Amino acid sequence: MLTLLARLEETALSIWLRESGLAFFSSLALHSLAMAIVVGINVALALRLLGVTPQFSLAAFRPYYRLHWAGVLLIFVSGLTLLLAYPAKALSNPVFYLKLAALSLALLIFRQVQQLALRNESLILNASRRGVALLALWVVVLFAGRFLAYTHSVLLASRFY
Ligand code: HEM
Repeated sequence: MLTLLARLEETALSIWLRESGLAFFSSLALHSLAMAIVVGINVALALRLLGVTPQFSLAAFRPYYRLHWAGVLLIFVSGLTLLLAYPAKALSNPVFYLKLAALSLALLIFRQVQQLALRNESLILNASRRGVALLALWVVVLFAGRFLAYTHSVLLASRFY
């Protein structure tokens, strides 16, 4: 596994993403922009599900669904470039898998609510529980994302060879 990661780190693209400040920080900036969009829309939806904003109908969310999934695409692209810059750093860190697991669950709940809301809002059962789950999962994703930089045990696999 370490050999494969070491080979990945020695590709021209990985070296460029790591050594070009512009490339690495643009990826990090895009990652932050995309997470503001995705997490922002999820928090607004969760607050609606929790009944904090009852006057805000879920039908009014319609235009935000497309923006949300565009944000998800951008966060995966920027996340993959950050990952490619330091593959061993993230892939050898259990916190990274916690982040991906919480992220997948949160996107699943969002997708379910979106599909039900587009059919008929009254079909959404356990709305408050879904709202609490969404908020809790995004807190986990954000903290895990931030702690990635402090919890890794390997920076570059190629250092072992
Ligand atoms: C909506 C989903 C996501 C959120 C909210 C999120 C959040 C974060 C946060 C808060 C950081 C720290 C940024 C900083 O240091 O300024 C981060 C870094 C990172 N994220 Fe994400 N992320 C998400 C999705 C992803 C995905 C899908 C991947 C990979 C496929 C990924 C890979 C990374 C990597 C590799 C880092 C850099 C860690 C480091 O400093 O070395 N993220 N993310």
